[in-house]
Amino acid sequence: MEKVDVLLGLQWGDEGKGKIVDVVTPKYDIIARFQGGPNAGHTLIFDDKKYVLHTIPSGIFRDNTINVIGNGVVIDPIIIKDEIDKLEAIGIDVASKMLISKKAHLIVPTHKILDKYSEEQKGKNKIGSTLKGIGPTYMDKTGRNGLRMGDSLATNFKEKYDALQEKHKTILGDYDYAELLSELEIKWFEAMEFMSKFTLIDSEHYINNAMAEGKTVLAEGAQGTMLDVDFGTYPFVTSSNTVTAGTCTGLGVAPNRIGEVVGIFKAYCTRVGSGPFPSELDNEVGENIRQIGHEFGATTGRDRRCGWIDLPALKYAIMINGATQLAMMKADVLDTFDTIEVCTHYDIDGEMYDYFPYDINSLNIKPVYKKIKGWNTDLTGLMDMADAPKEFMDYITYLEGELNVPITIVSVGPDRKQTLMREVELV
Ligand code: GDP
Ligand code: IMO
Ligand code: MG
Repeated sequence: MEKVDVLLGLQWGDEGKGKIVDVVTPKYDIIARFQGGPNAGHTLIFDDKKYVLHTIPSGIFRDNTINVIGNGVVIDPIIIKDEIDKLEAIGIDVASKMLISKKAHLIVPTHKILDKYSEEQKGKNKIGSTLKGIGPTYMDKTGRNGLRMGDSLATNFKEKYDALQEKHKTILGDYDYAELLSELEIKWFEAMEFMSKFTLIDSEHYINNAMAEGKTVLAEGAQGTMLDVDFGTYPFVTSSNTVTAGTCTGLGVAPNRIGEVVGIFKAYCTRVGSGPFPSELDNEVGENIRQIGHEFGATTGRDRRCGWIDLPALKYAIMINGATQLAMMKADVLDTFDTIEVCTHYDIDGEMYDYFPYDINSLNIKPVYKKIKGWNTDLTGLMDMADAPKEFMDYITYLEGELNVPITIVSVGPDRKQTLMREVELV
């Protein structure tokens, strides 16, 4: 019986998950999303064209691969319809290669309104949510009020929808939402109608049967470990488990059926939205990284906050996920830097920490940096690791030594082709 491999983010999201899933998809029969929803924005670039996926797994562009949206995902029919329309416009028959779990929860229009309302209530303490309704939808899931994709097949679907909406209206009180709601609702029901041509499945059975038949499965994470609802920088997190364990609950895969876990990180670090970011560079260097790395959100267009790589946070993420391999992304963004810095420790009131502390929001954390000589070479055309500059190899070797996990994938540009596989013995 095959195992499920997992690819997920080790930082605060946007590590380049979409790109690498697309690159490795030919090795897999099934690509499955297990959590998150349209808060995600996964970018793929090939043949000089750029595509951004929010809900649909990043295997959708390859032939002979089935894409599964698992029970742990939350779906906004308006957004997924828009994604499907764009794919169909370029000739991809999504219906023939995408299956959706009946147990995936639905984002209804009032969830989006509640998200906006909640952020407004929080004022300066706002999470910086993508406002896609993620938090309210997962709240209704765990609060046992949610609507699921499978409910759309029942005759009392509209009744269930209305009951949920009544609950939401009570919370919203006299908040001004009527116009937005009626606008969203028309689109939402149209989109639900459109979605009825897609196959709903019991995805836990589908995935387990596929593994038993010897099929290969890759689980594609969304967001990143530091945004995990349990292990991230709470409360500045998303509302799902973004870590390997999320694969078990989000797809119905038993823990002993998890295979390789590929943890993906940028050669530096970014975060979008509010919350602590110890190695943030609120200066010219950070601005340089933002400009060179085009660090603007794929979902919201917001500026991403930029900083140096953070080893305490990465070590923590590797531990929580049981990462067996690493993918280092966007190394090319550092091509022109004479010196690269690495946050090795946190100085908290004079004491050194090499791990991620509990109360990161209130502690006065000073990052301690090690300076590393830059490679000052254009890496974007690198085709073979044997041709990589020495300083770049030194950076990789240094990180591998610190993180104790091999870096098996190196990305030097946004295009599918700008990806190097390293033959490294697995630990
Ligand atoms: P995801 O959410 O993890 O899939 O990542 P995003 O798509 O939100 O953000 C990653 C961004 O970096 C996208 O714009 C990618 O096209 C781009 N990208 C991915 N890998 C590389 C790389 O190695 N170098 C550069 N310069 N850009 C990259
Ligand atoms: P991908 O899959 C980066 C951030 C938001 C906000 C917090 C909560 O593209 O890596 P939410 O909308 O979930 O209520 O927002 O999480 N966030 C992301 N940041 N990449 C993402 O996804 C994100 N999804 C959510 O900016 O700070
Ligand atoms: Mg993204």
